[in-house]
Amino acid sequence: PANAMSTAPRPDNRRLALFPLPFQGHINPMLQLANILHTKGFTITIIHTDFNSPKQSNYPQFTFKSISDGTSETKNMKSNLNLDTTNSLVNFMNKTYIDPFRDCLVKLQEEEPIACLISDALWHFTHKVADALHLPRIVLRTSSMSCVLVYAVLSEKRDAINDEENTFPDISPITKQDVVKILNDNLKEGKLDLISSMIQNTKSSSGVIWNTFKELEGPAYSAITQNFGVPSFTIGPFHKYFPASSSSLLEQDRNIITWLDLQPVRSVVYVSFGSIAQMGEAEFTNMASGLAKSNQRFLWVVRPGSVSGSEWLQSLPEGFLDEVGERGCIVKWAPQQEILAHPAIGVFWTHNGWNSTLESICEGVPMICSPCSYDQPINARYVTDFWKVGVMLDNATEEEIGKAMKRVIVEEEGSEMRERSKLLKEKVNLSLEEGGSAYKSLENLVNYILSL
Ligand code: UDX
Repeated sequence: PANAMSTAPRPDNRRLALFPLPFQGHINPMLQLANILHTKGFTITIIHTDFNSPKQSNYPQFTFKSISDGTSETKNMKSNLNLDTTNSLVNFMNKTYIDPFRDCLVKLQEEEPIACLISDALWHFTHKVADALHLPRIVLRTSSMSCVLVYAVLSEKRDAINDEENTFPDISPITKQDVVKILNDNLKEGKLDLISSMIQNTKSSSGVIWNTFKELEGPAYSAITQNFGVPSFTIGPFHKYFPASSSSLLEQDRNIITWLDLQPVRSVVYVSFGSIAQMGEAEFTNMASGLAKSNQRFLWVVRPGSVSGSEWLQSLPEGFLDEVGERGCIVKWAPQQEILAHPAIGVFWTHNGWNSTLESICEGVPMICSPCSYDQPINARYVTDFWKVGVMLDNATEEEIGKAMKRVIVEEEGSEMRERSKLLKEKVNLSLEEGGSAYKSLENLVNYILSL
């Protein structure tokens, strides 16, 4: 645990109900937040959907309540999760979970009063339910503040994508090309609906908790604290208080650490595209060839089901494993934070989900950025153009993949990125120390909840 945890827990034992969105990238920060608030003296009840349920045995200190929407649609959609279906699933669940969630809250309130509900900002239906029950509601937004700033513009101006002029003058590194990528497909209308509802839900809340810290996102921090009209608590990065391993939905392959221990310092490319992103067979084969031809050492997470039409490694090019030999390793799911903290890691080739981006920043590891959709293009743009701790790699050929790895691992440019990464890592640590911005924000959050 970081220094911010050294404060003694408060005696006030008030109960909070936390409601995570049932995806890995959202469950991790919500359960880390639950741990942080528990250490501050609050009693925690986690309300969760009956699928992707957190592993309760890892959290004997919390009470868990499972709710079901009873629909077969949810079941079907969750068995075919990818970046596109997630959007429809979230829109769908925001309708079907209204009654079960309200019933659950009413029952909980009867047992013992709840001081405050903390729900994921994407559970936008909770706004009306909490208001009807006169329950204060704080939202957890699991993305960067910069992302929400871009989303706020998009929700006000749905056709911003067609603008000739730069619609994001105050958020300078974001380009039109990034916005096209955020909304990249025929699901654009559904995405914009979800984005707008999320922004409204956030602005109508009693407060917002962010998994970020002030010094990391200065301009976005100022814009949001000035314009959103609700208190913001930037207490992150949460995983510096409590690691995410206990909330992992898949089993993490720990044997890989033994292999990493044998590799030279800063020599290994860690490749992982998070818990939802899927790729086509051609893209996967191209990645594999790029890794094979690069001559660099690599540790590659290929999540089962992440290559469309294939269970796991069926689409690997013939002879790949022989060609690579001891130089490369493939696993199904890894202890990511531990890997990023390992001295053998030289660069993280990532899709730039916000958790992955933060985890990399906290370990001072530079990135190769291949964002897919949602907030990822925004995070990637900040990594490459604002913090300057990574390079962009979009639709790359085999040769370009190898070149990007060399740029970061071998060349002078990479050393400069590592220097800047180290400075960011120091900023994180300062922010969490007593008197630092995240430390103070956490104190403010605790006092704010107690005052509700
Ligand atoms: C999703 C969205 O895609 C992302 O853009 C948004 O910011 C959060 O929700 P996901 O794609 O899973 O999340 O990415 P990310 O935010 O990076 O979260 C992945 C989490 O899984 C990280 O905490 C990471 O440590 C963990 N992980 C990943 C593992 O534990 N093992 C792995 O092998 C890979």
